[in-house]
Amino acid sequence: MPATERASPLASNIACHGNLQLILNIYIVIARVEAPWQSMSFLDCSNKPYRDGWLMNILILSGSPRKGGNTDLLVDAFAKGASPRHYVEVVSVHDYKVNPCIGCNSCFTREDYKCCQKDDMQIVYEKMANAEMLVIASPVYFYGLSAQLKAVIDRFHNPIRDTFHIHKMALLLVGAASLPELFDSILAQYELCLKFFKLEDMGRILVRGAKDKGDVENGDALKQTYELGQRI
Ligand SMILES: Cc1cc2nc3c(=O)[nH]c(=O)nc-3n(C[C@H](O)[C@H](O)[C@H](O)COP(=O)(O)O)c2cc1C
Repeated sequence: MPATERASPLASNIACHGNLQLILNIYIVIARVEAPWQSMSFLDCSNKPYRDGWLMNILILSGSPRKGGNTDLLVDAFAKGASPRHYVEVVSVHDYKVNPCIGCNSCFTREDYKCCQKDDMQIVYEKMANAEMLVIASPVYFYGLSAQLKAVIDRFHNPIRDTFHIHKMALLLVGAASLPELFDSILAQYELCLKFFKLEDMGRILVRGAKDKGDVENGDALKQTYELGQRI
């Protein structure tokens, strides 16, 4: 955001606040212009992976534990399409130790929003803090997302999410069956999450009839996924 936009709320404050408030406001504005990442989140974003030249940071949360499988192929195709213009990072959630949410709600009472569970979710939160778009990629497991991915999504139940800047989302799904209703329950969840988090839907790729590794290469699913990435 340009410095002029940051400064405008300050101008309207001058009339109604005393000198101390004015000095404080000037300090906040300077701090944001000098160090925008630090001011956006309480997390240490010193490993911020981008800015120059990239339009967005896109974080793909990929849910299959099967390496090189159909979900991975969809993710690769999307990333190839999007990466010339965006910084794309893939988190294969199976590689991270993320426990399911235990529903204690203690994160809502802590000043630093820290979850009481010490696991790799902190790393995922840091990546989310740097992202503007989220892509959810998963195989269909019993009409739902994979358990590994659902565990990560449940951990969004944490006030840290209010510090994120994610405003767009897309969905990549693959399942073995050819049923028309194969994706219905995941799509219902996806749409409710779009509404709840006020996110823009950037597109969905839904691939039926892909059971074994590489099946997704039959037909034009990978081409469509690449083109979706290009359109972002
Ligand atoms: C535990 C498990 C549950 C599955 N449940 C379904 C299902 O409900 N419907 C379906 O069409 N395919 C189901 N499948 C098949 C996978 O969705 C399919 O093989 C997919 O291509 C796997 O993607 P991957 O190669 O990225 O792991 C299931 C597979 C597993 C391992």
